[in-house]
Formats: sequence, structure tokens, C-alpha cells
Amino acid sequence: MMRRFGTTRGAGPMLGIVLLILTGSSLADEPRLEQGRDIVKRFATELQSALRATMAEGGPTAAVGVCKEQAPTIASRLSRETGAKVARTSLKPRNPRNAPEPWQREILRGFEQQAAAGATMPLEYFEQADGDTRYLRAIGTQAVCLTCHGEKIADEVREAIAADYPFDRARGYSVGDIRGAFSITWHDSVQ
Ligand code: HEC
Repeated sequence: MMRRFGTTRGAGPMLGIVLLILTGSSLADEPRLEQGRDIVKRFATELQSALRATMAEGGPTAAVGVCKEQAPTIASRLSRETGAKVARTSLKPRNPRNAPEPWQREILRGFEQQAAAGATMPLEYFEQADGDTRYLRAIGTQAVCLTCHGEKIADEVREAIAADYPFDRARGYSVGDIRGAFSITWHDSVQ
């Protein structure tokens, strides 16, 4: 059985139809969708409050360490707590470990296409097939993100990032761009 909504490769015109069929009925009370949204909310809230606190106290250079340490730590803890695989990914990752798998890349490209066509946040993707459930939610770029992901990054911040991330591609963003996505997946078939 396969149920999905959101974006699929080249499925632009189909999208409205898929949404119509599924959102009203079965998906409305799909527990995994609610759980996915809840995990994303917790991840985003925790990370952003740690980020903002450190930016205020120690400045952006110190906050690079928060993103480096806290993001993977929060993701692992939420994974342990929920039994889902909780991660962040991007078409232009800073950390190569966050590089998308092929199926995630397709969905991220779908988000880009939707945004280019004028769709507004939140952009979400939900799919259940063969015992696997996948939930992706696009992450928008806010002003605070530009300190480390924007066009102009202060020298000391750029150096701090370069020291830890020699393969960094996560620069040059503007407010409103899609920075990446939260990815929540369950593999019920192997449990
Ligand atoms: C203080 C610098 C800093 C700020 C500010 C910052 N980030 Fe990052 N960001 C990083 C670092 C460092 C990483 C790599 C983390 C890792 O190793 O997983 C990262 C990684 C990410 C990733 C994971 C994908 C990737 O590129 O590896 C996303 C998504 C992301 N940031 C989004 C944001 C958003 C959205 C904001 C604003 C709300 C933001 N960041 C603000 C430094 C920053």
C-alpha cells in the first residue's frame, strides 16, 4: 500500500489531486504525520533556542560549535525517544553527513520547484509504502541564519566554519530560501 502527499518528481500538476484525495480522509488522523510534525517542532525549538542563546552570549563564532555539537545530539536523542530516524538534510550541505540520499534529493528538488512556483511554507512531504514511513518538512532561511549561511559571512565566522567543515556548501542563502529539510523516517518492516 502506498499513501503520499506533498511533492514527487515531476508531479507538479498531480499534486493538487493527491492532496485533495488524501488530506480530507485518511491522512487527517494519520498518527505518524502528527508525530513527524511534533518531532520537527521539538527539534527546531530546541536547536533554535540553543542557537539564539549562544549567539547572544558568545557571538556567532561560539554558536558554530552549538550547531556542530547540538544538532546531531538533539537528532540522536529524538531518534532514541521516538524510534524514528531523525535528521536534517540539504541540497547544499555544510556537513557531508547531512548529504541527501537519492530519494531525499528528489523531494528537496520538489520543494524547490514548489517554492519557485509560488508555494508558501510549510512545505511537507509524507509517504507510507512497504512498511516505511517518510516525513520531510522544508526549512526556511531566516535573517538569523544568514550569519552563517548567507552571502557575506564575517571573516572570523567563516574561518571557524572552514576549520570544521572543509567541504561546506551551505553559503549564499537569502531570507526565504529553502535551507534544507527535517527528515523523519520509520522502518517498520525491519523492526
Ligand atoms: C552560528 C552559525 C550558524 C547559524 C546562525 C545557523 N547555522 Fe545552520 N549550520 C551551522 C553548522 C556549523 C552546521 C553543520 C552542523 C552539523 O555538523 O550537522 C549547520 C547545518 C545546518 C543544516 C543541516 C544541513 C547542512 O547544511 O549540513 C541546516 C538545515 C541548517 N544548518 C539550517 C539553519 C537555519 C534554518 C538557520 C537559521 C534558523 C541556521 N542554520 C543558522 C551553522 C549555523
